[in-house]
Amino acid sequence: MITLKGKVHYVGINDRTKTLFEGLWPLPYGVTYNSYLIADEKIALIDTVDVNYFDLFLKKIKEVIGERPIDYLVINHMEPDHSGSIRLLRQFYPNITLVSNKKALDMVEGFYGTGAQTQVIAEGGSLELGHHTLKFHMIPMVHWPETMVSYDTTEHILFAGDAFGCFGAMNGTPIDSMMDTTVYWSEMERYYSNIVGKYGAPVQKALQKLGGLELEMICSTHGPVWTGENISKVIDVYDRLSRYATEEGVVIAYGSMYGNTQQMAETIAEELAKEGIRKIVMHDVSRINHSFILADIFRYKGLILGAPTYNASIYPQMEMLMSEIEMREIKNHYLGYFGSFSWACHSTKKLSVFSEKVSFETVGAPVEMKQGMKECTRIACRELAKAMADRLKEDR
Ligand code: FEO
Repeated sequence: MITLKGKVHYVGINDRTKTLFEGLWPLPYGVTYNSYLIADEKIALIDTVDVNYFDLFLKKIKEVIGERPIDYLVINHMEPDHSGSIRLLRQFYPNITLVSNKKALDMVEGFYGTGAQTQVIAEGGSLELGHHTLKFHMIPMVHWPETMVSYDTTEHILFAGDAFGCFGAMNGTPIDSMMDTTVYWSEMERYYSNIVGKYGAPVQKALQKLGGLELEMICSTHGPVWTGENISKVIDVYDRLSRYATEEGVVIAYGSMYGNTQQMAETIAEELAKEGIRKIVMHDVSRINHSFILADIFRYKGLILGAPTYNASIYPQMEMLMSEIEMREIKNHYLGYFGSFSWACHSTKKLSVFSEKVSFETVGAPVEMKQGMKECTRIACRELAKAMADRLKEDR
């Protein structure tokens, strides 16, 4: 049994077998589905777990409360990694009352069918459990419309849904002060950029709304339970990422079939280094999962994209990356680009259209290469790199 504080227990699950979160994002360190149980005069469970782990989940619940019934299931977020066990849970606890906002309870109906007793709450609503009182705050579009948080006014614990979450399973304990948290900080940036990245404005609104709460513990649905100094550190990460705040550095994301376009990328990287840019990250869009590329794009202010022409369009993996960037409405970047072709150039045109759609500042002249690398191409690549370096250095 993992007790977080007093009557508040952790009953979450480590998933070390799922390879792709949402079928898209790699999980080299696994992932958790966090659920919390408050065993007060009334018993409240906060969120559930992926349905594949229900058996273990139920064992963890019974380890805390034995055969006592659960009075309430508080639903902060309806995505099935957290709501997936609702239907089975009702079979074991038929008198359980589902507590959430109307949007979430409508989703329960849509995903899992009817029949549950429900208690609809709205912004500022509360639930008395005895010693503990839960107060509810709506944080829509972080990253679904029904998302809310539950604040334990007794112990000052924020049950945050996906907010402040990260990838990574727990090794022995979910409590940050009892573990090495190193890996979770980069996994938080990857989680944010992959899953929540589009919703910067709603995250900012949520941070403002929750800003006045006294916090002793943040209990997200993914990743460690955050305490002490880490609370402000976690909030700072979410604040920085949702403002699309960046640091000096350049991501060069390129596609290359035979190495010619890669030579353009290498030339650009060399010149950036000569110009004093120390943080240069090169990503081959075919070989590196875009999950990691997006996290680096969120971190660094400079972005240089390059790809060959393919089927009278652009190299497919670059098309996908452009779409992923556009979908997230990423802001506050400098963009340079280059393309290549063998007989008819389309890739640079596609990158040009992309540069007009996104709200990035384009720097330098785009470079276009026919067939192989020539001295004029090398010079143009160096000029593009220098323009990027100069623009970044203006901000120092
Ligand atoms: Fe972890 Fe949005 O579900």
